[in-house]
Amino acid sequence: MRKDLGKKLIFTPLPVLIIGTYDKDGNPNAMNAAWGIQSDYEEVTITLSEHKTTKNLRETGAFTVSFATKDTITISDYFGIASGNKEDKIAKSGVKIEKSKYVNAPIILDYPLTLECKVKSFEGEKLIGEVMNISVDEKYLKNGKIDYDKLGIVTFDSVDNTYRIIGESVAKAFSEGLKIK
Ligand SMILES: Cc1cc2nc3c(=O)[nH]c(=O)nc-3n(C[C@H](O)[C@H](O)[C@H](O)COP(=O)(O)O)c2cc1C
Repeated sequence: MRKDLGKKLIFTPLPVLIIGTYDKDGNPNAMNAAWGIQSDYEEVTITLSEHKTTKNLRETGAFTVSFATKDTITISDYFGIASGNKEDKIAKSGVKIEKSKYVNAPIILDYPLTLECKVKSFEGEKLIGEVMNISVDEKYLKNGKIDYDKLGIVTFDSVDNTYRIIGESVAKAFSEGLKIK
């Protein structure tokens, strides 16, 4: 028996994206966002209401997206419950910053994997970014490829308001289904 839960949305897995921006004076900030997707080969789309981050990215035309991990979970949640309008989250969290070589946005070195994006458009709360570069901490590379198991990426569970770690691989994509094709 299935039960209808009504007209509401439970979408899973949701990512835990950390958006890094500079303000017009070059001061870095970071926020947490779960409503984000890959929307083309080199494009991301994130739904954002008004924040310090949105003011910043309108001014600079750029942002970074890092993926929260088990090891960065405390700072990642903090970036989602405090605003850069009220406090210096970068100083308070103690993270280390390096400017992207490709866009006017900060890479937060504490995160292993970061997308460096230029703003394509930001209308109706939908931010669309073109990915100009991806950078990864080389500790997380195995034979030149990103070692997904080592990253410890987390997802946001909006049912229980918790962060959950992504588990082990269960099957090969584009291949497992051949068993019944
Ligand atoms: C788990 C989590 C997910 C969030 N997802 C979003 C989101 O998708 N879009 C959004 O506008 N705000 C989201 N927020 C809220 C912002 O992160 C929060 O308002 C933050 O203070 C904004 O920071 P800023 O003012 O320094 O830019 C989320 C917060 C948390 C904790």
